[in-house]
Amino acid sequence: MDAAAADPRTKPVSLDNLLKLAAADMAGVDGLIRDRMQSPVSVIPALAEHLIGGSAKRLRPLLTVAAARLAGSTEDHCRKLAAAVEFIHTATLLHDDVVDSSELRRGKVAAHLIWGAPSSVLVGDFLFARAFELMVETGSMSALEILARASRVIAEGEVLQLTRAHDLDLDEAVYLEIIKAKTAELFAAAAEAGGVCAGASPERAAALRRYGQELGLAFQLVDDALDYSGASDTLGKNPGDDFREGKATLPLILAIHRTGAQEREFWMRTVDARDQSEADFERARTLVHDSGALDVTLETAAGYAQSAKAALSVFPANDWRVAMEDLADFAVARRS
Ligand code: IPE
Ligand code: IPE
Ligand code: MG
Ligand code: MG
Repeated sequence: MDAAAADPRTKPVSLDNLLKLAAADMAGVDGLIRDRMQSPVSVIPALAEHLIGGSAKRLRPLLTVAAARLAGSTEDHCRKLAAAVEFIHTATLLHDDVVDSSELRRGKVAAHLIWGAPSSVLVGDFLFARAFELMVETGSMSALEILARASRVIAEGEVLQLTRAHDLDLDEAVYLEIIKAKTAELFAAAAEAGGVCAGASPERAAALRRYGQELGLAFQLVDDALDYSGASDTLGKNPGDDFREGKATLPLILAIHRTGAQEREFWMRTVDARDQSEADFERARTLVHDSGALDVTLETAAGYAQSAKAALSVFPANDWRVAMEDLADFAVARRS
């Protein structure tokens, strides 16, 4: 096989197979989302429609339905969990954009800039509550436990990140702890809950959890790389948000180490002392790229995607498993 074709960063990766297999499930999930975002308090559906109608990839609910089908589900009740997972994710985005002062989300002006931060935070709470109603309807205490814990862990991850911003000495171990909590936990829970909903054995549910966790780590590493290398029209969000917020993501941590004393003053001013001008992000982008920090970040992501795929080995190599392997490649190759 030629090297470029084997490298998920250059290989054209599509989710077409997975999207085709999951089309009926995802249409069902979409119906549930539309139905449950409604409220007589008109600002709620207006704000929710703004965000939910944007360019969402819906990867997490896709993970839940794929995990359920891979685990042998022949019924449709796991769709409610998938919708709950997307509501939890969407709620965290509303909160996250306020916390990160982000201006663009899913290709649209961030909700807090239109309706204000208070409405954004409160509609986030509404979506969280809707997720819990849906989970209760499934009657699965195990799924409820998995997703309730994930909701708590995500909040812990976001708070931990907040307390460690502008910290030039943040190490890779703390960074990993943060992304494991704020992102990989929901991917892990989405996959595990799908398996549990389908009656998977503890061994298989654990394999799905491991798959989701490794996939989630890969996904966030790539997200953090795209914050330096991506473009707003494909990303649907503005690159540079992490740098402006002083977030010590792996690309930045590595670039700081690799550029050494020579650039220490630049990083001290822009990240530690929060004194930035518009041109500084361009310089940071160049340093992150030229120091090789970006490549190492993507290689690290590719390693996690590989482990994600390996976790599926306890399942038969059917269409669902192959499509979930594609999803791991997509997490690394994505530009949006
Ligand atoms: C954004 O997730 C938040 C991160 C964990 C990086 P997605 O990139 O999956 O967001 P949408 O749902 O497709 O907008
Ligand atoms: C994503 O964090 C994790 C959550 C939303 C919980 P980021 O802040 O890195 O995600 P983006 O870049 O805003 O999508
Ligand atoms: Mg953010
Ligand atoms: Mg980000």
